[in-house]
Amino acid sequence: MIIVIANQKGGVGKTTTAINLSAACALSDKRVLLIDLDPQGNSSLSFVEPQTVDGSAFELFTEPNEPWSNFIYPTKVEKLDIVPSKISLAKLEAKLVGDFDAIFRLRDRLEEIRAHYDLIFIDTPPTLGLITVNALVAATRVLIPIQSSYFALEGTDDLLETIEKVRSRPNPDLEIIGVLVTLFDKRTSLSKDVEAHIRQVFGTKTFETLISRSVRLEESPAHKETIFTYAPKSSGANEYQQLSAEVLKRV
Ligand SMILES: Nc1ncnc2c1ncn2[C@@H]1O[C@H](COP(=O)(O)OP(=O)(O)O)[C@@H](O)[C@H]1O
Ligand SMILES: [Mg+2]
Repeated sequence: MIIVIANQKGGVGKTTTAINLSAACALSDKRVLLIDLDPQGNSSLSFVEPQTVDGSAFELFTEPNEPWSNFIYPTKVEKLDIVPSKISLAKLEAKLVGDFDAIFRLRDRLEEIRAHYDLIFIDTPPTLGLITVNALVAATRVLIPIQSSYFALEGTDDLLETIEKVRSRPNPDLEIIGVLVTLFDKRTSLSKDVEAHIRQVFGTKTFETLISRSVRLEESPAHKETIFTYAPKSSGANEYQQLSAEVLKRV
């Protein structure tokens, strides 16, 4: 099962979800691989020291003959491995444009890797460019985080249209595993109104679990920890654990 976390809006909780959902699934005894496809590398920073990274996501696309173990690193979370990204990934789209198989690079690469993991999560950049399209072509499911704020649904039409295009030709098996309400603030009626609206639009595709706004979740990456070691009793740890149970039930 390959789950891509996508929303071309920045700051909606993609990376926070990628880090903590993959850790939660690994803690549930699943063999998990997290692939960081954002050139900013924010997911990677929680798990690896940038100076120790040699092969990375860039080479996953560009070096089809190098063994994939060159790009995969263990993390301090047992059963969780990562393909980190480096800023070099920013040059990838320019390099791939014009190649007839450009959108299939990641899918081809994951063909041999996927058997070694129960779950593969892919964190994506805030665009609908060639990197995100590669992830959608390679994936079996897409998870869409949506921030519970004003203009929350702005841009989701473009994302859904891209998903439909990918489904219509290169990847008919792609399905939305769920829509996740993030950065929820139960004290504001705006957050509740937006949540209700999201549930109305996406129905039962919306995960029951909400991710609340939490200082602990915001702080944990700076300490290079997941929420489960940084603040195991926090609302964030509890919510991401609940989300992982819902995800595992849906796969
Ligand atoms: N539930 C949350 N509570 C508080 N801060 C959050 C939460 N989720 C994300 N953040 C913070 O918001 C910012 C954007 O989140 P991030 O996960 O990086 O989004 P994206 O990957 O979609 O750009 C980061 O600073 C992150 O720490
Ligand atoms: Mg991100």
